[in-house]
Amino acid sequence: MLTLGVNIDHIATVRQARRTVEPDPVAAAVLAELGGADGITIHLREDRRHIQDRDARLLRQTVRTHLNLEMAPTPEMVSIALDLKPDYVTLVPERREEVTTEGGLDLLSNFPRLCGVVEQLQGAGIPVSWFIDSDRAQIEAAAKTGAYFIELHTGKYADADHEDQRQQELEALQRGAEQAIAAGLRVNAGHGLTYWNVYPVAAIAGMEELNIGHSIISRAVLVGLERAVREMKLAMRGEL
Ligand code: PXP
Repeated sequence: MLTLGVNIDHIATVRQARRTVEPDPVAAAVLAELGGADGITIHLREDRRHIQDRDARLLRQTVRTHLNLEMAPTPEMVSIALDLKPDYVTLVPERREEVTTEGGLDLLSNFPRLCGVVEQLQGAGIPVSWFIDSDRAQIEAAAKTGAYFIELHTGKYADADHEDQRQQELEALQRGAEQAIAAGLRVNAGHGLTYWNVYPVAAIAGMEELNIGHSIISRAVLVGLERAVREMKLAMRGEL
């Protein structure tokens, strides 16, 4: 059955804009689970721009579904993951200056070091997923690392300007999923998925989990704003 991992990073983005205590990603995770999230995804970035170490620690204790920790394959992050023991780790590329993750990881450069990261994490019982583009050589390399999962990067599909380009990117994702499954990998996907473009990706044969953040948090802000304003008017009258 296809599952949904809800990425709650941007709840923390709003909190960090004021360095305050609200909104709390721990509360958001509870609500996402009440809404049917099958998993909670967080990206602990090197610059800690949204999710903080404290969030990761508390979420490890409170998440009732599964916790997917996205992180760069660096020694600092590996040591945090070994301590935290998330249900799985998704390894992503990371550049400080990027607005969001801009592409899949290149497994071909630094291959031996990356194999070592899989060994360390999976040796400690933490399944690893590689966030990669739907590229034949990358998928082959992912299988060789011994990781259990890949997450296909859906950004190019999501950003396609024309319908024929979108169709080509969708076909690339379909081929990638097929190749990965044949190589014994389990397949997730994510990045840039929205209420309008999700269905064709959800329908890819063998797809296990979609990790979606920005579009869900954006909708949450809009569907919640009217009530929030009404409640502030009540609070101003001392009636809340
Ligand atoms: N998967 C990975 C590996 C990501 O890095 C991100 C963004 O943090 C997502 C999924 C979610 O992407 P979006 O916020 O565009 O839904």
